[in-house]
Amino acid sequence: MQDATELLAIAVEIVREAGKTARRMREEGVSGVATKSTDTDVVTAADRAVERQVVETLRVRRPRDVVLGEEYGASGATGEVRWILDPIDGTVNYLYDLPQYAVSLAAEVDGQVVAGVVHNPATGAEWTATLGGGAHRDGRRLRGSPATDLGQALVGTGFGYDPARRVHQAGVLHGLLAHIRDIRRFGSASVDLCMAAEGQLDAYYEKGLNPWDHAAGGLVATEAGLLVGGLSGAPPGLDMVVAAPPALFKPLHDRLVELDAAGGP
Ligand code: IPD
Repeated sequence: MQDATELLAIAVEIVREAGKTARRMREEGVSGVATKSTDTDVVTAADRAVERQVVETLRVRRPRDVVLGEEYGASGATGEVRWILDPIDGTVNYLYDLPQYAVSLAAEVDGQVVAGVVHNPATGAEWTATLGGGAHRDGRRLRGSPATDLGQALVGTGFGYDPARRVHQAGVLHGLLAHIRDIRRFGSASVDLCMAAEGQLDAYYEKGLNPWDHAAGGLVATEAGLLVGGLSGAPPGLDMVVAAPPALFKPLHDRLVELDAAGGP
């Protein structure tokens, strides 16, 4: 039996230390910049160093657990707990010294995320959640936006790195923009989800997210009272992640279905 509060405490300790590494390496000047899936999909020495640091710490503290990280994939035993890590979510922001990036770490037990933390080393902002225990920022309980009208909603989104996918995402945006208050693209999915949990965004959607992008932030949003799902009853995943307060979820969901937002490359 795994205690979510204990797993969260470990995660918080680990991301704070990892965040110090990310911040120090940013202050020293970004190094080791390379590209991954496409020419715009970047990775830096800091992404790799932070992931190594977290994996090594978990290896010592939780030797039986599995770790899935963005840069090095899955490693470890086949234990009950799987940690899901994005060492730097918002790498492009990190590269440009824009303070919207985070170390995101979630603990999953039997396929369900039970604890998550999103820590922004640049601003010190930290969002946490445990399954059934609510979502918090700096001890303050989060409850999402009270918005009920999609036409007045500030909606966050993000774009993938594949040019063909971006063309499709631009088409979706084209169909959505006239039906919402406005759109925001901040560049870090985990932070976007936490902003929706705080009510700094009324809702958020994105196609193409990997588990490390949304595992921790998704729990924060859910525990803040938002509905987090995919389209047409699918779970949140690669096809689509939508996070919205109950009154906004269906109208946003239906508009995204109409625009075939989960389709395309
Ligand atoms: C990216 C960010 C971005 C989102 C992309 C993600 P990364 O993660 O979360 O906001 O739009 O889809 O891939 O590459 O910075 O870890």
